[in-house]
Amino acid sequence: MKEVVCVLLLVLLVSISDANVTKPDVGNFLRCLHNRTYLGTPITEALYTHENSTFVSSYVSYTKNKRYSNPNNTKLIAILAAKQESHVRQTVVCAKTNGIQIRIRSGGHDYEGLSYISAVPFVILDMLNLRSITIDVPRKKAWVQAGATLGELYTKIAEASKTLAFPAGVCSTLGAGGHISGGGYGNLIRKYGISVDHVVDAQLVDVNGNILNRATMGEDLFWAIRGGGGASFGVILSWKINLVKVPKILTVFKVNKTLEQGATDVLYKWEFVSSKLPQELFLRAMPLIADGAKPGQKTIAVRFYAQFLGSANKLMAIINKNLPELGLKREDCYEMSWINTTTFWQNFPVGTPTSILLDRPSAPPGALFKSKSDYVKKPIPKEGMEQIWKTMLKFNNVFMQWNPYGGVMDKIPANATAFPHREGNLFKIQYFALWNDANGTDANLGLMKELYDVTKPYVSSNPREAFLNYRDLDVGSNPSGETSVEKAQIYGTKYFLGNYKRLTNIKAKYDPENFFRFEQSIPPVLAM
Ligand SMILES: Cc1cc2nc3c(=O)[nH]c(=O)nc-3n(C[C@H](O)[C@H](O)[C@H](O)COP(=O)(O)OP(=O)(O)OC[C@H]3O[C@@H](n4cnc5c(N)ncnc54)[C@H](O)[C@@H]3O)c2cc1C
Ligand SMILES: *[C@@H]1O[C@H](CO)[C@@H](O)[C@H](O)[C@H]1NC(C)=O
Ligand SMILES: *[C@@H]1O[C@H](CO)[C@@H](O)[C@H](O)[C@H]1NC(C)=O
Ligand SMILES: *[C@@H]1O[C@H](CO)[C@@H](O)[C@H](O)[C@H]1NC(C)=O
Ligand SMILES: *[C@@H]1O[C@H](CO)[C@@H](O)[C@H](O)[C@H]1NC(C)=O
Ligand SMILES: *[C@@H]1O[C@H](CO)[C@@H](O)[C@H](O)[C@H]1NC(C)=O
Ligand SMILES: *[C@@H]1O[C@H](CO)[C@@H](O)[C@H](O)[C@H]1NC(C)=O
Ligand SMILES: *[C@@H]1O[C@H](CO)[C@@H](O)[C@H](O)[C@H]1NC(C)=O
Ligand SMILES: *[C@@H]1O[C@H](CO)[C@@H](O)[C@H](O)[C@H]1NC(C)=O
Repeated sequence: MKEVVCVLLLVLLVSISDANVTKPDVGNFLRCLHNRTYLGTPITEALYTHENSTFVSSYVSYTKNKRYSNPNNTKLIAILAAKQESHVRQTVVCAKTNGIQIRIRSGGHDYEGLSYISAVPFVILDMLNLRSITIDVPRKKAWVQAGATLGELYTKIAEASKTLAFPAGVCSTLGAGGHISGGGYGNLIRKYGISVDHVVDAQLVDVNGNILNRATMGEDLFWAIRGGGGASFGVILSWKINLVKVPKILTVFKVNKTLEQGATDVLYKWEFVSSKLPQELFLRAMPLIADGAKPGQKTIAVRFYAQFLGSANKLMAIINKNLPELGLKREDCYEMSWINTTTFWQNFPVGTPTSILLDRPSAPPGALFKSKSDYVKKPIPKEGMEQIWKTMLKFNNVFMQWNPYGGVMDKIPANATAFPHREGNLFKIQYFALWNDANGTDANLGLMKELYDVTKPYVSSNPREAFLNYRDLDVGSNPSGETSVEKAQIYGTKYFLGNYKRLTNIKAKYDPENFFRFEQSIPPVLAM
């Protein structure tokens, strides 16, 4: 009986919010931008329409996935590259009152392009110009604006201190806006958790154009934007973060083992030890396609990638005790500063100047790709691995990342932030296929589904969990501009588990008319 009532209420809610949607009025939207200037600076300098010669380049350079980067395939009306906070407020208010959808973009790395495509008319609110960073070394804190990249943040931290760092992702062009609001996962996870565990304040523009901080938004909204994705709730302007302690010198290594060199056995042992190692050590395993012994032959290699908060000698001792099968040699290990490890993790050769961390995208993206994720709670048997290798070898270019959990992740409650995947995980899988030509899309998407089917028996179920930052439309989605609460429940429970219901309640409180909506947004549902 209770269930029937819920369904009826939900249907009612959806139809009410649909009835309230204003018909899009582009002309009035543009007039509104010129008309309503909150702080006196004209918004024209931040506005790109099809008439501006730089429209296409400003669109494509921040479209990381070439699958979605053709501007001719979008219903894009304009790009607003806000130069000051008032531009953000004005864009939100003018879009809302004129029934125009917005897509918020910081670094443009969304795997499914949800920050820059839509099937209904929309504008991109681009945060790339709002990128200031201030570091407070004595208090071990920083303010970082949404459009700053991780490379810029890491550089500023290292300039200010040799022993401070921030736990976040590996790729230096990720935007602070999207990356941190989706969780923010990286190689300090076992010692320090993820980015949202170190966010202490935030500035956000709400649906009415108000700028809120932690005190004025309240603890529930502040909880939601730490892992629930910012774009369902408002526009993140900036984060205040805690910095963490790292030693002056860390140690990293990369070691390959092919199937012929016993990769399956080493990886099987890795499954039992990687989440139990000292939390100063993060040891990722990366199965990938490699050249076989004979020309033209392919095999699987597992690349073991490590970061240790300590010396090479200590690291050698830990590996020799726990995973001697790896055959780690002292000369595989490099001791370096934390900032230098951030380039090592991006596969730049040791010795590459760290100024490379400041490079921003300027050209259209090179590759088309598809990614998926899984959480693993018990070791995958060797037979399972062999099936995985067989399927991987059907691709031209695919890799997986097996990212160990444990450490502090087992101690942070699943409801401490909106990001729920904590205790009981051995590791998280990321699947990643790349190709260069749109002709390859159907084949690669088909193979990704096959690979995901092959791993199904070995990963989390009911629900099969997924990581929000590894955006995947296959886990459920809505059409652009529409939100069905039933469909949202499907992706919502996979991304947010037990935190999903609270997220829908918070959404109902702060954005009841569902202005901030997209294919995988959180729908407003009143607490019942
Ligand atoms: C090459 C590559 C490497 C990656 N490595 C990692 C990694 O190591 N760890 C990890 O956790 N993830 C990683 N990711 C995934 C990445 O964290 C997510 O794609 C993240 O959402 C990117 O943030 P962005 O600002 O760059 O993306 P965008 O595409 O700009 O935004 C992503 C989402 O956040 C929303 N959003 C963006 N800015 C704001 C804002 N200011 N306010 C509200 N909502 C906003 C967008 O609307 C969209 O829904 C990687 C992705 C790529 C392409
Ligand atoms: C412009 O601003 C004036 C005064 O605030 C208001 O009356 C008018 O409706 C606005 N026009 C548009 C198109 O927003
Ligand atoms: C786009 O073109 C308009 C009209 O020429 C101009 O006013 C505006 O400044 C241009 N936008 C940018 C970002 O250069
Ligand atoms: C988009 O369309 C324009 C006009 O038809 C064309 O000149 C341009 O090459 C197209 N761009 C892409 C990336 O297909
Ligand atoms: C590991 O294998 C990959 C793929 O074949 C190769 O590019 C890389 O150079 C190898 N790395 C090491 C450390 O051997
Ligand atoms: C960091 O890298 C730079 C550039 O390669 C190098 O000059 C420097 O010695 C390295 N420092 C440390 C401590 O790793
Ligand atoms: C998290 O759950 C625990 C019980 O499981 C509860 O006591 C606590 O209040 C919850 N915290 C939040 C922030 O909801
Ligand atoms: C992609 O397909 C089109 C149409 O079938 C064909 O003309 C083109 O040559 C193909 N491109 C490549 C690189 O195979
Ligand atoms: C619909 O819009 C009207 C007028 O803006 C408002 O009073 C009402 O609360 C809205 N209803 C819902 C369910 O959002």
